[in-house]
Amino acid sequence: MSTPGSLRLSPAVAEFATDVLEGLAREHKAIPSKYFYDERGSALFDEITELAEYYPTRTERSILEVDARAMAARLGPGCVLVEYGSGSSVKTRLLLDALESPAAYVPIDVSEEHLLRAAAGIAGDYPGLRVEPVVGDFMQPIELPSSLPATARRIAYFPGSTIGNFVPGEARRLLAGMASLAGADGGALIGVDLEKPLSVLEPAYNDARGVTAAFNLNVLRRINEELDGDFDLESFEHLAFYSEVDHRIEMHLVSTVAQEVTVAGSTFHFTAGETIHTEHSHKYTRARFEELARLGGLTIVEGWTDPREWFGVFYLEPASA
Ligand code: SAH
Ligand code: AVI
Repeated sequence: MSTPGSLRLSPAVAEFATDVLEGLAREHKAIPSKYFYDERGSALFDEITELAEYYPTRTERSILEVDARAMAARLGPGCVLVEYGSGSSVKTRLLLDALESPAAYVPIDVSEEHLLRAAAGIAGDYPGLRVEPVVGDFMQPIELPSSLPATARRIAYFPGSTIGNFVPGEARRLLAGMASLAGADGGALIGVDLEKPLSVLEPAYNDARGVTAAFNLNVLRRINEELDGDFDLESFEHLAFYSEVDHRIEMHLVSTVAQEVTVAGSTFHFTAGETIHTEHSHKYTRARFEELARLGGLTIVEGWTDPREWFGVFYLEPASA
């Protein structure tokens, strides 16, 4: 494989190549976090959700266990539930169980095999429900299946605090896209990880078993396999820390030695200790999320949290609604 333009690549692989080559050429090397998620990355993420240190998934689940009926009352009967970054759709089941006669479930994800398997599981377990998976990047304009009932209320569902994986400008654009998907009559239900002590945050991204490290390194393995890279996975280490300034966990891969790496025919130099920034995971206060949502054209109508206030699930409507 040579440069992305010189061979006939699938659009998805060409975009992967372009983003990686552009990201590695920067002064501060970076790779977008969506590239963690191939089949193996999605399986590793599922493993992360079960870790003792990783509190977000079980905390959000505990909120759904208590409040899914109140959320369902807000979403209303007969809605179309469009889920952004649906992954295994596990927590979604708690919401589907509480919803009154949902018209359709539209899970969207970049991780194709994982998405299609999860969607088939939902279709099997909810026989009356129309399930229409969409493989794609939710940062791009979303084309909903034309078969969806045109008059049903549309809900953008974005659990897991995946919103935290985007810098404020991107998050605002995403929220604006959700406001437009919802239209004047619809709404959005968004899970947001809240600020909490460092002693809880940092271990969640530095688990003792090293599953998060394997998840982080998976992006290099993908580059080697899909973009003809020659990263030596043994000479990169996982690093995750909380930045008080940016209110976010940052994940990096640290080159432990000075080295050169070739990807798709381009060579990149690493000094010892130089990092590739692979993910940020922003943590919000309710007030800061409210302001972000306002900038995206959405207003919080109701919110639910756990007793420790570690995670929030917010129901929002377009500001003009
Ligand atoms: N919603 C699930 C999964 C969260 S993991 C939960 O709450 O547990 C984040 C998911 O978002 C992954 O499945 C990943 O493949 C998907 N994802 C990340 N960036 C994406 C993007 N830009 N477009 C579509 N899906 C994306
Ligand atoms: C999907 N996303 C919200 C996770 C997070 O916590 O930012 C991804 C993750 N990264 C490391 N562990 C989990």
